[in-house]
This record gives sequence, C-alpha cells and structure tokens, in this order.
Amino acid sequence: MRGIEISNLKVGQKLARTIYDDVGRVLLYKGTIIKRNYIKRLQELGIPFVYVEDELVGPLEVEELLHDSVRIQSVKIIRETVEKAKISKEIDIRKVSEIVNKILDDIFASPSLLVTFQEITSKNLHFYNHCVSVAVLAIITGMVLRLDQLKLKNLGMGAILHDIGKSLVLGKDHTVVGFNLIRQNKDINIACAHVAYQHHERYDGQGYPRGLKEEQIHQFAAITAIADYYDNLVNPEVSEERMFPYQAIERVVAESGLAFHPQLVKAFSRNIAPYPIGSLVRINTGPLGVVIGLHKNFPTRPIIKLVTDEYGGTIDYFPEVDLLKEKTIFVNEIISEKERDRLGLGKSNGKLIIENGEFRFEDEKLKNENVNG
Ligand SMILES: [Fe+2]
Ligand SMILES: [Fe+2]
Repeated sequence: MRGIEISNLKVGQKLARTIYDDVGRVLLYKGTIIKRNYIKRLQELGIPFVYVEDELVGPLEVEELLHDSVRIQSVKIIRETVEKAKISKEIDIRKVSEIVNKILDDIFASPSLLVTFQEITSKNLHFYNHCVSVAVLAIITGMVLRLDQLKLKNLGMGAILHDIGKSLVLGKDHTVVGFNLIRQNKDINIACAHVAYQHHERYDGQGYPRGLKEEQIHQFAAITAIADYYDNLVNPEVSEERMFPYQAIERVVAESGLAFHPQLVKAFSRNIAPYPIGSLVRINTGPLGVVIGLHKNFPTRPIIKLVTDEYGGTIDYFPEVDLLKEKTIFVNEIISEKERDRLGLGKSNGKLIIENGEFRFEDEKLKNENVNG
C-alpha cells in the first residue's frame, strides 16, 4: 500500500483504503480497481491523493489510529459547529465534548500510537479535517507527556477548536475571536480558550497575537502549535505543496528551540512515522525497499522489504531488513511516484507469494488462465 497523488493514479490500480464523499457515504470501496472515470470524479471532488495497493509487496495490514467512522463523525460535528458559530456566534460545547471523548476512546484503544496515514480528504472538508487531525496529533503528544485523562480531554477540546475563530474572521484575529467565542461558555475549561488564543505564539517570541515566549505560552497551546504546523505541511490547502512526513518532521525538528519548545518537539516526533507503511525508500547501502512494518516508539527504524539490489537492479526475491536490528542501515530518502515510474518498478501485475521462506511473483494472468482450465 502506498499514498499516490491523483495526477499519478493509473487505471487498473487497486484502492487500498475506502474513500468517502463529503457526507460520509462510501465513494469507492477498498479493493476497487481504478477506472478512468473514477480518476475524473476524484479530481472533481478535490481529493489530492489516495492509497493504492503496492504491486511489489501486495496488500499490507495497517492498524488505524482513528477509525474512518470516528473521523467522519468528528468532521461532521466540527462542520456543524463552525456553521452554527457563523450564525449564532456560539459554540455547541456538548457536541464537541462528546466527539472528543470518542476520539480519545479510539486513540486509547490503538495498540501503537503511530501516525502512519495521511488523511484522504476532499477540498470542501479540508478545514474540518485539519481541526480533527490537529486534535489527534495533540492528544498523542499529550500521551507521550503522560498527561492525565482530564488534561488530555481539555487539550483535545482546545486543539479541535483551535481555529474556531476562523468561522467569524480570517487572518491573525482568528486567535482573539476564537478565544472570546470559547470563553463565553461557562462549561468549558479556560485552557481550551488559551489554545485558540496562543496557538500562533512561538517559543522564541516571534508569534502572535501577543509575542509570548517560552513558558509564558500555555503548554496545550504550544503542543497544538506543533500539531498545527505539521498538519499544514503534510495536508496543505494547496495539495501540490504537500510534503512527505519525513520532510515535515525535519521541518518541525529544525524549529526546535526556535518556534517550538524543544521538549514538546521531542514528544511530538515520538509518534510520527517519517516513512509510513508502503513508502518506497532508498537505504544508505543502495537498494530500494518498501516499508512493510513499524516498531512502536521507534518510528525512524522501520522494517523494509528490499525490492532492488544495491545498483537498483531487479532481484527475484525480496529479503526483509529490520532497521531496529541492523543499526548501521538507515533510510536515505523516499522515492517519489515519478522516480518510481522512471525506474520501472511495480509494473508487474503478479502477486507476491511466500513459499519456504522465499518470495516469488505469481502472475495474475497466468493464474486466471489456469483457473479457467
Ligand atoms: Fe490558526
Ligand atoms: Fe490551524
């Protein structure tokens, strides 16, 4: 499985994750073979990328941090909350609180807390998905910091509402407007309002609206600031500017001690997989490989299935390397879809078969012929 830009999507590829429309109905099921008119429809909806099954390694089981159903419901609630705030200038806190509880339950139930997916979202839902993603990223960072249940709840509430001010005003004022919107509610913790107010403040004092610095910034706001920055890099409004997770996490780390609190950057990076499952990567010794597994707490040390020799030549079996064990091996870069096409990888329609510890391809076409007699 790998993420692929719509512009690189080809007829005949197989979807590895279900795609939903703007109201949460299934648009295309996982397993669907891509046809020309599907690509057109996805483009119309402004969906920037999808996940397809990787021809080299076949289907991979990936655990989800947030189930599709919870994500869809959260996006729906945030959308309603924003629409309502536009008219009534009030927030329905009860609904937001309920959905944050569901997000927390889902995250607590996830065996590893690794972020391995980028969310597939249509243009119309981009902003609401951003709010939900920032909440998820903030919560898992809070868990690394061992915040208690109540604090995680307030952090999640603040993070999901961090940009609520944008329902009334765009530009820098969305921080102050958001603060006042949230503050009106007697039932909500004031820390949540501070997240909206301070999520553009920077550790070095270069942020807004007040130019607060270091410990003057509320911890929840400082965490949300990192989550917000990261999500805007991997899921930007202009999808052509989308970064790979490893590039985005590098940018976050580069701001450690500048824009962001060093300890919080460290906690944040713990759960982000820079090379998500399905990534085609080049390792330092030369060969290309596909990321097929991740270790909890060691996101930079994935398990890789090699698919070429050290010169990029084809090989007929695919050895696995576990970077947690092979300490001298590391990932150099992610290979883009264009590069991949140029290398001619993944052209085979065959299915990978593992037999007696050996890997070989079974050609789908041959298999069908055999079945048909
Ligand atoms: Fe903001
Ligand atoms: Fe934001």
